[in-house]
Amino acid sequence: MSVIAAPSALDAARAQIVGLDTPLPRRDGAPGPAINLDNAATTPPLRQVQATVERFLGVYSSVHRGAGLKSQAASAAYEEARTVVGRFVGARPDQHQVIFTRNTTEALNILAHRLVLAPGQVIISTELEHHSNDLPWRGVAPVVHVQATAEGALDEAHYAALLHQYAGRVRLVAVTGASNVTGYVPPIHRLATLAHAHGAELVVDAAQLAPHRPINLGDLADPAHLDYVALSGHKLYAPYGAGALIGRADTFALGAPLLAGGGSVRRVTPRIVDWADGPARDEAGTPNAVGAIALAAACLALEALGLETIAAHEAALTAYTLDQLARVPGLWLYGDPDPAKAETRLGVIPFCLDGYDPHLVAAILSYEAGIAVRSGSFCAQPYVRRLLKLEHAGCEQGQQGLVRASFGLYTTEAEVAQMVSVLHALAAGDYDGLYERNATNGGFQPLGWNEAPQTLFQLGGVPALAQG
Ligand code: ALA
Repeated sequence: MSVIAAPSALDAARAQIVGLDTPLPRRDGAPGPAINLDNAATTPPLRQVQATVERFLGVYSSVHRGAGLKSQAASAAYEEARTVVGRFVGARPDQHQVIFTRNTTEALNILAHRLVLAPGQVIISTELEHHSNDLPWRGVAPVVHVQATAEGALDEAHYAALLHQYAGRVRLVAVTGASNVTGYVPPIHRLATLAHAHGAELVVDAAQLAPHRPINLGDLADPAHLDYVALSGHKLYAPYGAGALIGRADTFALGAPLLAGGGSVRRVTPRIVDWADGPARDEAGTPNAVGAIALAAACLALEALGLETIAAHEAALTAYTLDQLARVPGLWLYGDPDPAKAETRLGVIPFCLDGYDPHLVAAILSYEAGIAVRSGSFCAQPYVRRLLKLEHAGCEQGQQGLVRASFGLYTTEAEVAQMVSVLHALAAGDYDGLYERNATNGGFQPLGWNEAPQTLFQLGGVPALAQG
């Protein structure tokens, strides 16, 4: 099986990715190109994003706090970024509010703080969630979890049963837009319709979904609408420290913000605090304007490329990868392993290799071929535990985690083929005895490895300021 040649738009987009030309040291001593198959954790910036940030820095100044012309320009750009990010997820200016945050985790914590819950209300989360879409809810209400099926899908019958069991008491359903472990994509609009029918709202953790699929909040009058979505710039080719919470404005119109301080208020006396209207209420302190501009620039770049184009490329690559990985002796795929269904999920592929610690597999990919993947539980321990209980999976008992390869819009078939080739060699025992545990950090490295990671980057490389 072979992937159809990537459309030229994606070739051009690959040229826009920063850092692919950074040579990485390898065990054999010959540095080679960096291959990033860890896009579910974080994506590198696009050059368009970097260039927009550079341009913005020319007017960078106090946002919403200054009378200077640069301040006015920076404030206008910040608000334009808000409009762009809202439009990216189909926000309606008369219904929704866009709050800039640090990331998805902060966005979900803000929402958890701002939701008003009546006594006895519960929140439904799911077993598929990243900890950030589970732990914040535990702090505000009892949380019940929808089970995952053996293959890692959401058990919709269990979801319906929980809505029935807690009828009239469910305040919110918190579900991922796409799993950061298996790439499974839940039917969020179907789940929303059912939630609304039971008087609940629905929030989507869109950290994984946003870089791969179009998102549409929908009109609040539509039963299938999404009430809130949260996303992160660092998974969206804009790693400048901003994310966003976008959702129904009426929720944020009343009540006190999670973070109080300058900018979040209209009037303050020793006894009175009159909170600001609009997103300012939830954005206390000088905002991360650079991050917001970067996030908006990334949204514009992805819109120009086309989310459908990205999805089609990643589906073809995922089908190829699943097919190839299934041929590696002793390799076990988790989630849905069927290449024919690749377009229904993301290119986030977890696996294990019989007899090998997942962290060792990740280290070997890195030191042999400069391939970055993630290993472990991916901040989703209950879900990974559920997957590891699969009876048909053959990896040794007591396995503590998995290896995960995850794709970006710029990932190529050649990069995946390199990973597969290292995995074949690994399964054949080619690297046995060549790696040891690093006594300091517990990870694995080649025997006698003595290159410090600082050889790749040092702050000391910053030119000194000229002496006056
Ligand atoms: N959620 C990020 C990951 O999956 C951190 O790696």
